[in-house]
Amino acid sequence: MQKISDRPIGVFDSGVGGLTVMKEIMLQLPEENVLYIGDTARVPYGIRSAETVTRYSLEMVDFLVGKGIKLLVVACNTASAVALTAIKKRFDIPVVGVIEPGARGAMEATRSKKIGVIGTEGTIKSNSYVHAINALYGNKPIVITEHGTIRFDRYFEVNIEDLTIFTKACPLFVPLAEEGWSSNDVAVLTAQHYLEGLKREPIDTLVLGCTHYPLLKDVIAGVMGADIALIDSAQETVKELRRTLIQYGIENTSHTEPLRRFYVTDAPERFIKVGERFLGEKIEHIEKINIGGN
Ligand code: DGL
Repeated sequence: MQKISDRPIGVFDSGVGGLTVMKEIMLQLPEENVLYIGDTARVPYGIRSAETVTRYSLEMVDFLVGKGIKLLVVACNTASAVALTAIKKRFDIPVVGVIEPGARGAMEATRSKKIGVIGTEGTIKSNSYVHAINALYGNKPIVITEHGTIRFDRYFEVNIEDLTIFTKACPLFVPLAEEGWSSNDVAVLTAQHYLEGLKREPIDTLVLGCTHYPLLKDVIAGVMGADIALIDSAQETVKELRRTLIQYGIENTSHTEPLRRFYVTDAPERFIKVGERFLGEKIEHIEKINIGGN
């Protein structure tokens, strides 16, 4: 019988974005077998309601669990933000999301206790980073203030005693990263629009709270300034993943060639084209599956 440690890790995302997490897994944990699923027929999750994202997420995870994964990584920030509790309740395997590791990374990095968080509309609306940071801070009362008036300018200030978090949804970063427009003038202009409010605030740390944002790291750093620490939740999540594997004693110690398979819910061509850029490697062993009537 196959040992638990030899079984694959399951990585779930709404589409290609989770490949930034997969890339980190391949880098930090190269011996692990990985099954990746991207819900390409129903992406983006970032603009959908929490109920819909939760329903989609449970269907995706159900598929991976059926494949015998030993542990699940919810690589999608939006799914982690709104569906993690439901996933943990439904499935009896260790689950690692991206929000808590990102929050921990931000708390470790900040000196001024002024933190910025950017993500999809769903992630920002859920305030999940705020709650995760506050949990590390002792669950103090929070006061939320809205700044700005127009769509690109609106951001929120959350006060938690002497800690302040500024949050901002940056939805256009997702299509820009997928289009490969991660460093041109359109990307710079978009980043300037989105980040102008946060730039005025005295933050020293900014959480990249979306799978796609690490691809725009240079542009974001260029707009915010080199002295702002950018927290890449993909990197933080894989550190947490390593700790969880050790905690459960399920690290893969067999030194065989790792197995990596990809599943998508729509035709694979676009996933392969965009995904190879995100992953920095060739995508092979990919299969289209039917889930949720698509
Ligand atoms: N994967 C999503 C996230 O990290 C971004 C793409 C989407 O909206 O589905 O929030």
